[in-house]
Amino acid sequence: MYISKQQAPAREGITVQAPGRINIIGEHTDYNDGFVLPAAIDKKTTVMIRRNGTSSTANLTDSKQQKSFSFDLRNFAPHEKGWHNYVMGVVHELQVLGAEIGGFDAGFRGDVPIGSGMSSSAALECSFAVALNELFQLGFDKWQLIKASQMAEHHFVGIKCGIMDQFASVMGRHDQVMLLDCRSLEFQYFPFEPGDYQLLLLNSNVSHSLASSEYNTRRSECEEGVAILKKEIPEITNLRDVGLGQLLACRAKLPEPVFRRCHHVVAENLRVLDAAKSLLDNNFKKLGELMYQSHFSLQNDYEVSCPELDFLVTQTLEKAYIPGSRMMGGGFGGCTINIVEKQRVGEFVEQVSKSYRNQFGIDLTPIKVAIEDGAKILQ
Ligand code: GLA
Repeated sequence: MYISKQQAPAREGITVQAPGRINIIGEHTDYNDGFVLPAAIDKKTTVMIRRNGTSSTANLTDSKQQKSFSFDLRNFAPHEKGWHNYVMGVVHELQVLGAEIGGFDAGFRGDVPIGSGMSSSAALECSFAVALNELFQLGFDKWQLIKASQMAEHHFVGIKCGIMDQFASVMGRHDQVMLLDCRSLEFQYFPFEPGDYQLLLLNSNVSHSLASSEYNTRRSECEEGVAILKKEIPEITNLRDVGLGQLLACRAKLPEPVFRRCHHVVAENLRVLDAAKSLLDNNFKKLGELMYQSHFSLQNDYEVSCPELDFLVTQTLEKAYIPGSRMMGGGFGGCTINIVEKQRVGEFVEQVSKSYRNQFGIDLTPIKVAIEDGAKILQ
């Protein structure tokens, strides 16, 4: 039991779960006000939470790691690295919105692999945001919880992430992917009917330390690009507004790496819209081509891939039973997302695991994912 008898709750506790996510396509576009095509998955974080009768003590337990952390709700700040910062960040952001949060005990566990690009962080943040909202009857709507969770990451973790992960974790729906316009926040559900195909993640089990610093660097490179492009095309506010032709016409004005970052974002937005159309047409071949283009653009233009991910994608090339593969998420490690004919999954996994071990001396983790509902209050 994660709560002691002395800290008797004022009301029954609740259990909330929030999932990690996949992203079919649309990487590093969210913080550029672009388009993404994510979905929530059957890997999640579950929080059991109850009031503990104190006015300001929060006791947290990571049930899997058997680690605890307590903080004073009236006086706390991010410190060291670790999961507690995500939770404190969510509490802080809800307080900024005016929430009155009393003392609580919470235990959580999850099966979203950490550092895998499947957004275990959004699962943790959103499960707490939804749980606190319910337990203390805060009355926030889903978008407020999504944005508070995103801001928790900016302010308490130091990653200036976009909105995709928290959005997917809260809004996800069984067997549906979502086309989100990260500027207007309008979104549309698309049925994901893979038929003979299986969504397969290959977790490279590497997580390079560059991930967080380079993420923020990419974001500022895009901002630098917009500042320069704005002098040529005053009507733009961000890369979302720039056409491919306009970007190419301004190439000489941009420092070379900045041009490539902008090129990735502008082209990736177009790919997302094409991919949504391919899904509607049930055209997995076309979707797969777009996924490969996305990968090579992330590898060469955006430079957020790594040798392990490139190797995994290369292993899928020229296999007619795999229409598409690419790195997924922020990059520098984590997973590739692959669309593989169901009947050939076993054979492929065996082959790629062997070559990956030979090449890097690392065991690969294959993960068959299903698309599931977003955050839920279980009881
Ligand atoms: C991380 C961030 C997201 C998004 C992706 C890249 O997952 O949290 O906001 O930027 O990287 O697409």
